[in-house]
Amino acid sequence: MSKNLDAYWMPFTANRQFKQAPRLISRADGMHFWTPDNRQVLDSIAGLWCVNAGHARPKIVEAIRQQASEMDFAPPFNMGHPKQFELAERLVKLTPPGLDKVFYANSGSEAVETALKMALAYHRARGEGQRTRLIGRERGYHGVNFGGISVGGMVANRKMFGTLLAGVDHIRHTHDPRNAFSKGQPEHGAELADDLERLVALHDASTIAAVIVEPVAGSTGVLLPPKGYLERLRSICDKHGILLIFDEVITGFGRLGSPFAATHFNVTPDLMTVAKGLTNGSVPMGAVFAHQKIYDAFMNGPEHMIEFFHGYTYSGHPLACAAALGTLDTYADDGLLTRGSKMAATFENAVHSLKDMPNVVDIRNMGLVGGIELAPIPGEPGKRAFSVFLDCWEKGLLIRTTGDTIALSPPLIIENKHIDQIIGTVSDALKRAA
Ligand SMILES: Cc1ncc(COP(=O)(O)O)c(C=O)c1O
Repeated sequence: MSKNLDAYWMPFTANRQFKQAPRLISRADGMHFWTPDNRQVLDSIAGLWCVNAGHARPKIVEAIRQQASEMDFAPPFNMGHPKQFELAERLVKLTPPGLDKVFYANSGSEAVETALKMALAYHRARGEGQRTRLIGRERGYHGVNFGGISVGGMVANRKMFGTLLAGVDHIRHTHDPRNAFSKGQPEHGAELADDLERLVALHDASTIAAVIVEPVAGSTGVLLPPKGYLERLRSICDKHGILLIFDEVITGFGRLGSPFAATHFNVTPDLMTVAKGLTNGSVPMGAVFAHQKIYDAFMNGPEHMIEFFHGYTYSGHPLACAAALGTLDTYADDGLLTRGSKMAATFENAVHSLKDMPNVVDIRNMGLVGGIELAPIPGEPGKRAFSVFLDCWEKGLLIRTTGDTIALSPPLIIENKHIDQIIGTVSDALKRAA
């Protein structure tokens, strides 16, 4: 293996810190990674919220292998291959009624851009082209492309990149310290959805195309929707003819104990973005689920004309479709899209057992996602959690931290013994970081 780490500019990584003390992984199976020198590391974050069925699942590996030898690439424009259609048909059987059309992309970020463009073009196709405003939410994460960072609400992801998209506004985030240590959905804050009414009063509904939110915000530290919040957002959108987009890149495919957050909370958006768990992280793929009414609005004009001027060279790539089909088989074989609900109580008790550890100021959880928020070291935000991350890595556990929150999102195949190991290792690390 090359020992020179110089040439690779790593994404979302402290490059200089990493290159001084590299953390390399070279093999994965089930709940674990292995380092090149064969040290086993428990994966408590499903890679990056994506390997929901665990690593190296045989049906996925075999599907990719077979597809690579059968057909490596198929042009996606004006041509199709059977697996694109088969996958779409299987996917829409899992989504809430109405979300009956699938558009393929290659990542969560691309799925978000696609959904935002669909929303704008939908209104224009219906003769309401003045609805150009997109609304996001503070502390939201919707990937790293210009649309996504514009509607996103993470300052570090926005401040370096100029003026972003014009005409974007944000509703307030839902994090409320009064809800600290809530188990599952917090009590306080449904009324925060009314912030959308404030923006309607400011901009007028007739200028607003869509609102995009993560049903559970992951990247800013696992923020749960207060009870009644999503329902209220849905009804305000309906009242004003505003499309509601759920970004389910993290919550999709079983994370909360249901196939999607939309199913879990029983709130159906007009557009829904997914990626990550769609292929179990094995081949890059994203997708947008669109309500039938949105698709129908595009299906006018001459029949030989393209209806939506959007798509990627790799939309519905054969390897990605094969991987996604293998993934859906694996989820079905093991009942993984609902397994999180069976493990939820054990996981909840386990993460909340860290309540009295040093510097823990809040714990949030749902299904198989948990956030443990730490008090920052004064003047050095993020450093305490990062030191816990490094300590856990040394002890054979991969966790993820965002700011000073530890975010746990294990593969959905997790067993009690893994939960014990995660909690034991994090707890020891928290004591050492005190
Ligand atoms: C909610 C949400 N949207 C979008 C993205 C971006 O996905 P990707 O990194 O595949 O572009 C992420 C990634 O974590 C995400 O959590």
